[in-house]
Amino acid sequence: MQNKFSKLISTGSYLPDKIYTNHDIEKLVDTSHEWIVERTGIEQRHIAGENESSVDMAFQASSIALKNATLNASDIDMIVLATTTPERKFPSTAVLLQNMLQNNNSCAFDVNAACTGFIFALDIADKYIKGGFAKNVLVVGTEKITSLLDWKDRNTCVLFGDGAGAAILTSSNEPGIIYNTIGSDGSYKDLLTVNTDPEFIEMKGNDVFKIAVNTMGKLAAKTLEENNMSVEQIDWLIPHQANSRIIKAVAKKINLPEEKIIMTVKNHGNTSAASIPLAIDYANNKNLLKKDNIIMLEAFGAGFTWGSTLLRF
Ligand code: COA
Repeated sequence: MQNKFSKLISTGSYLPDKIYTNHDIEKLVDTSHEWIVERTGIEQRHIAGENESSVDMAFQASSIALKNATLNASDIDMIVLATTTPERKFPSTAVLLQNMLQNNNSCAFDVNAACTGFIFALDIADKYIKGGFAKNVLVVGTEKITSLLDWKDRNTCVLFGDGAGAAILTSSNEPGIIYNTIGSDGSYKDLLTVNTDPEFIEMKGNDVFKIAVNTMGKLAAKTLEENNMSVEQIDWLIPHQANSRIIKAVAKKINLPEEKIIMTVKNHGNTSAASIPLAIDYANNKNLLKKDNIIMLEAFGAGFTWGSTLLRF
C-alpha cells in the first residue's frame, strides 16, 4: 500500500570557511558593527571562495544529509534544488549536483522563489511523495548570494551571506509534513530585485521589512487556524533568517515565546534559499529537535513569494 506521508529523515549543511565580520565590512562602506547588530541582528556572514559555486556547496551539504540518512545517492529518485544563484544559466544547478553525486537516474530540477525557495522545493517534494511518484527526495537550498552584492552599497552588502542546506524527505506511513502553503505576488517585483549590468541586488529595505512582517505574521496565524492548532502546540519556529527584528515581530504576532525560535541570522546573515535548511540542520545538530516535535517553517522573499510549513519531526 502506498504511504500517506512524507517525512524529513535527515539534514546536512555547508558554510564556506571565509568569514566577514561586521568589522570587516566597516572597512568597505560607511557603517558600524553597532548599526548592523541593532537593525538586523547580524554579526558575521560566510563568503564562498572565488572558485566555490552554489553546486559545490550543495554537494557538501547533500553528502552529509545522505550520510546521516544512511542512504546512497542512487537511492534518491528526485532532486529539487532552490537557488537564485545558479552556477550556469543551464543546465540547472540540480543536474550539476546530480552529476557530482553520481546519481544519474533521478529527476533533478531547480526552483527559483528567492528566499522562499526551500519551502517551494519542500512543497513539490512532499506532493510528489504523497502522489506516489517519488520515494526519496533530496531537497536543497544553496546560494552564492554574495556574488550579487555591490560591496559599495551599505543598504544591501551588510545583509547577506553564502551557504547551503539539504534535507531528505522519504515516503512514510507516519507524518511528516502536516501542512504546506506557498504563494506569490509579482506586483512587488521591483522592491527587491537583481539589476542587470552590473548584476547587483537592489532593495527598498524599509518597504520590504514592513511587508515581510505583515505577510509572515498573517501566514503563521493562518497556518495555526487551518490546522486547528494553538501556538502552545508549536515546539519550534524555524523562519527564514533575514533580520532578527523581522523574526521577533512575526513571533510576537502569534504570541510565540522567543525561546521557541531557532535563530541563526547572527552568524549566517541572510543566505536566501539556504537559510531555512541551514537553520534546521543547526538545530538538529544541537539536538534541539526531538522526535514528534511540531515545527513551523515560515519564509518570505523577492517576488514577493511566501511559504509556510508544519512538520512533525
Ligand atoms: N549602516 C549604517 N547606516 C545605514 C546602513 C548601514 N549598513 N544602511 C542604511 N543606513 C542608513 C540609511 O541610509 C538611513 O539613513 P538616513 O536616515 O540618513 O536616510 C538610515 O540608516 C535608516 O535606513 P532605513 O532603511 O530606514 O533603516 P531600517 O531600520 O529599515 O533598516 C534594513 C534597514 C535594510 C536593515 C531593513 O530595512 C531590513 O532589514 N529590511 C528588510 C531586508 C530584508 O530582509 N530583505 C530580504 C527579505 S527576504
